[in-house]
Amino acid sequence: MQTINLGQTGVQVTALGIGAWAWGDSLFWNYGQNYGATQVKEAFDAAINAGITFFDTAEVYGKGESERLLGQFSQHSPTPVTIATKYAPFPWRTRAVSVSSAVAQSLSRLQLTQIPLYQVHWPFSFLMNQKTLMNALADEVEKGTIVAVGVSNYSAEQMKQAHQILAQRGIPLGVNQVKYSLLSRKVETKGIVATAKDLGITLLAYSPLAQGLLTGKYHPSSPQKPDGGRRMDARFSAKGLEKIAPVLNLLTHLASQYQKTPAQVALNWLIAQGNVIPIPGAKNAAQARENAGALGWQLTHSEVAQLEEVSRPWLI
Ligand SMILES: NC(=O)c1ccc[n+]([C@@H]2O[C@H](COP(=O)([O-])OP(=O)(O)OC[C@H]3O[C@@H](n4cnc5c(N)ncnc54)[C@H](OP(=O)(O)O)[C@@H]3O)[C@@H](O)[C@H]2O)c1
Repeated sequence: MQTINLGQTGVQVTALGIGAWAWGDSLFWNYGQNYGATQVKEAFDAAINAGITFFDTAEVYGKGESERLLGQFSQHSPTPVTIATKYAPFPWRTRAVSVSSAVAQSLSRLQLTQIPLYQVHWPFSFLMNQKTLMNALADEVEKGTIVAVGVSNYSAEQMKQAHQILAQRGIPLGVNQVKYSLLSRKVETKGIVATAKDLGITLLAYSPLAQGLLTGKYHPSSPQKPDGGRRMDARFSAKGLEKIAPVLNLLTHLASQYQKTPAQVALNWLIAQGNVIPIPGAKNAAQARENAGALGWQLTHSEVAQLEEVSRPWLI
């Protein structure tokens, strides 16, 4: 199994992870309606059987339910797993003690004594500045409650600042988790990809399948419509789906050459960027297995370049 180091933190994970936002979440996803605990447990098991041991969650997903489910599943897993979770910088969390109490609650839901990767979910720093926040995270590393520190949705500048503050404590910033796919490439134009490479920070690519669009299962003539929060998303409208047809046509063509699926090609393209770990969501075993199949083979340079070209409209 291909593995990658999370920046210079010493934490090593599989080159693809599984995102667990949809596990327990009924605010955006339809957890409890067309899929539930049985299906997501099967997704977890299928990921492990396919060699994927890296899972991403957050304290806010399903109001803690995603962490609770991952905690239960990993307790019963014969294979050790690496869990990444996230701290929500809510405006009412104004003091460093908020960080230690959030860490303690995540540890309890995850049934862990140490969190392998702890990320700041978004860069809200109005009432608790980055210095206080990063130093509170550094304290947790020193206490041993977390191993590696990450951020999420940080700009290039914010990432540099977080990196510098942690460096003063001798702690590397491991990752920046950002929205990155063939249909979301602003991280390239905004300097995030280049800055992460310069500073030795790994990027975790969230929504790497553009929330299902890059699987090709949603298309203008398909009876299948997305559920949950995506019903309001214009990208899933007939017009939106027509716009992405050139990308999907190329994905489908390349997939047929390798006997892979469009989703696997889309994830393989992200891995080909280097320093990027996609964390696709999976609601059931079939999706987890399929997403794991993005590993173990490689698109050629020319195919990577063709996908880059067809997806240029999404650089802005
Ligand atoms: N840091 C942040 O701010 C942030 C934001 C968003 C997400 N994330 C993280 O990134 C992870 C992934 O992002 P995401 O869930 O937004 O988007 P995604 O991975 O692009 O899409 C996931 C959805 O696509 C469909 N899908 C996935 N694999 C499939 C397959 N092989 N075949 C067919 N359909 C498939 C499923 O929904 P349907 O079956 O219903 O189509 C699934 O829920 C999340 O779980 C979370 O851990 C982080």
